[in-house]
Amino acid sequence: MTLREMILEDFDQVLQIESESFSDPWSREGLFAFWSMKNTLFFSVEQGGEILGYCGLQYVLDEADVLSIAVRRDRRREGIGHFLLDGAMRIAREFGITKIHLEVRQGNEAAIRLYLRCGFVQDGLRKDYYSDPKEDAILMSACEENCGAV
Ligand SMILES: CC(C)(COP(=O)(O)OP(=O)(O)OC[C@H]1O[C@@H](n2cnc3c(N)ncnc32)[C@H](O)[C@@H]1OP(=O)(O)O)[C@@H](O)C(=O)NCCC(=O)NCCS
Repeated sequence: MTLREMILEDFDQVLQIESESFSDPWSREGLFAFWSMKNTLFFSVEQGGEILGYCGLQYVLDEADVLSIAVRRDRRREGIGHFLLDGAMRIAREFGITKIHLEVRQGNEAAIRLYLRCGFVQDGLRKDYYSDPKEDAILMSACEENCGAV
């Protein structure tokens, strides 16, 4: 299993994972638009030519937001999410990023557990942030001292 930069050839598999993971998945054009921006970093976890998971970060100066993160449905709970996010955070630090923010559906226990495991802490709540279905967002962040510390 390796973590590397996402390449265009990964898109078919990444979009498949997006569509099985989210009620409002990225279109190919949407993914391409973010992926090709100068201030984004996209990573894939690959094993034998198969994409097991991916994530995207968008940064401004020394702070970044997690745009998306997902693991193939049939490969969840194997530690791939942790391998991916922990690795992405380490690489982000090499880009001078010292703080990472994200928002997550309040009921998304798997993702919240992953973020806590990677050193994120809750620092806010946004009422009715999500639609389809309507749900509050928990705001979380990790800074350099606790990035990948656990
Ligand atoms: C969130 C997601 C990326 C986690 O990926 P994963 O590869 O299954 O995560 P890991 O196996 O590395 O597990 C990381 C931690 O989360 C916990 N966890 C994972 N899935 C869980 C679940 N369904 N319920 C409870 N805890 C869970 C693990 O036990 C582990 O915690 P621990 O180390 O304290 O035991 C994956 O569930 C996913 O793709 N979900 C759909 C997309 C999504 O919701 N993305 C986040 C949007 S904000």
